[in-house]
Amino acid sequence: MVPGMAPKPAPPMPAQPKKPQHMLVLGTGFVGRYVSERLLSQGWRVSGTCTSAAKKMELELLGMTASVLDATTSNIADLHALQDATHLLISIPPIPGVGDPLLSSHADLQTTLTSGNLQWLCYLSSTSVYGDCGGAWVDEDHVVNPKSASSKLRYAAEQGWLDLVDELDLSAFILRLGGIYGPGRRLRYANTSIHFTI
Ligand SMILES: NC(=O)c1ccc[n+]([C@@H]2O[C@H](COP(=O)([O-])OP(=O)(O)OC[C@H]3O[C@@H](n4cnc5c(N)ncnc54)[C@H](OP(=O)(O)O)[C@@H]3O)[C@@H](O)[C@H]2O)c1
Repeated sequence: MVPGMAPKPAPPMPAQPKKPQHMLVLGTGFVGRYVSERLLSQGWRVSGTCTSAAKKMELELLGMTASVLDATTSNIADLHALQDATHLLISIPPIPGVGDPLLSSHADLQTTLTSGNLQWLCYLSSTSVYGDCGGAWVDEDHVVNPKSASSKLRYAAEQGWLDLVDELDLSAFILRLGGIYGPGRRLRYANTSIHFTI
């Protein structure tokens, strides 16, 4: 250093453009679509799956990257967005006789997500896992008591996703939905033919 001359301070590093958060919605149905629209409006990148080409087009018109995925036949690991997603919302229900169709690819999921960007996942479950509580108030601390075949599958799916996030050392949210209805969603009453659209 020349005596009497202070070294020039290093120029500030150029700010890195912030990479948008990337939500992948597996099963972009009623809830998945609502969440997707909200996230898109907040600047998120959103990818989603559905089971038909017509629905894929609808999702693309919203600004999403959409893929057709039948979880009983397609390999989830082939889904490009899975590697890149920072967040995962799982909305595909369990299938009678199969269970959670995505978790049958547990090993592939684990491998893909281990090398990906995932921060957390959220599984949409059901209050059916509490069983019949006789009209009592139920909250998240209530003991689960799945009795019906479908609620047993639902509870097994919750456990399966929790096991996976444990292996990945990530966090998970399990949201047990009661009944969510809204525009375009038809309410159907068991044993009657009455239904209406809000
Ligand atoms: N809404 C409620 O009141 C409520 C209450 C309790 C629990 N839940 C549970 O919460 C989750 C979200 O509810 P939601 O009302 O948004 O459900 P939804 O509208 O029926 O959406 C389910 C999504 O899963 C996709 N899907 C179904 N079977 C599939 C398969 N074999 N392979 C790939 N994708 C498949 C559907 O594809 P398409 O879009 O192509 O049809 C759809 O995108 C579901 O698991 C539901 O059972 C909902």
